[in-house]
Amino acid sequence: MSTSGKQSWNPDQYAANARIVSDLGAPVVELLAPKPGERILDLGCGDGALTVKLAGYGCEVVAVDSSPEMIDAAKALGLDARIMDGQELPFEREFDAVFTNAALHWMKNPAAVVAGVERALKPGGRFVGEFGGRGNVAAIVAAVESALGSRGLYSECPWYFPGAEEYSKLLEENGFSVQSATLIPRPTPLPGDVGGWIETLAQPYLSVIPDSLRGEFLREVVESLRPVLCDREGNWHADYVRLRFSAGKGWRWSDR
Ligand code: BEZ
Repeated sequence: MSTSGKQSWNPDQYAANARIVSDLGAPVVELLAPKPGERILDLGCGDGALTVKLAGYGCEVVAVDSSPEMIDAAKALGLDARIMDGQELPFEREFDAVFTNAALHWMKNPAAVVAGVERALKPGGRFVGEFGGRGNVAAIVAAVESALGSRGLYSECPWYFPGAEEYSKLLEENGFSVQSATLIPRPTPLPGDVGGWIETLAQPYLSVIPDSLRGEFLREVVESLRPVLCDREGNWHADYVRLRFSAGKGWRWSDR
């Protein structure tokens, strides 16, 4: 059985199980180095936790995300937040920078994303971000797919996790000069066991499992991951690998 189930977002569940994702975005904001007065697009803003930080630098920020629930949460923070598919950006030469954190791995047409970002930037603009890179959550993916397989089920991996060279090539092909692109292994503490992470962030995988079997499925996956992702004190972490990058539209950082 195969399906491409959808991910839905609940801002409260996200805050309880995945707040760490935006908490770890501070170095990406530093890499962006926002300047007062700049017009910035936050691509895949989630609940707006990092957008608020960009606005705090005195920037004019437009925040976009495909989830209506997340956009409602971002609007509640007073942000200019708009429901939008990052693979269909409509902007033309209006931003000084495009910023993105922990969102691009959800967009499985990366060429459409990068082309849209290039169009959205003013000449000389910059594209700075971080998302899951090659090998990201590999143990979790393997455990979930093995438990699905043993039940005769299949669900396509819902994420795009490229290597640094692969993503740099895509950027260069779309008119960017890459300043940096690095894979960063980052085992990341979880607030509970990995079951909460899977229920919050890996819903497309779970959608192929009948509701009545979901609890048993999750317990099996959690136990298979315990020796890999849980230490002796009972602390769980996710096996994150980030791809952090910065690129300029038609120019090299060193020429600035
Ligand atoms: C991540 O931030 O790496 C991530 C989030 C959700 C699903 C997969 C990966």
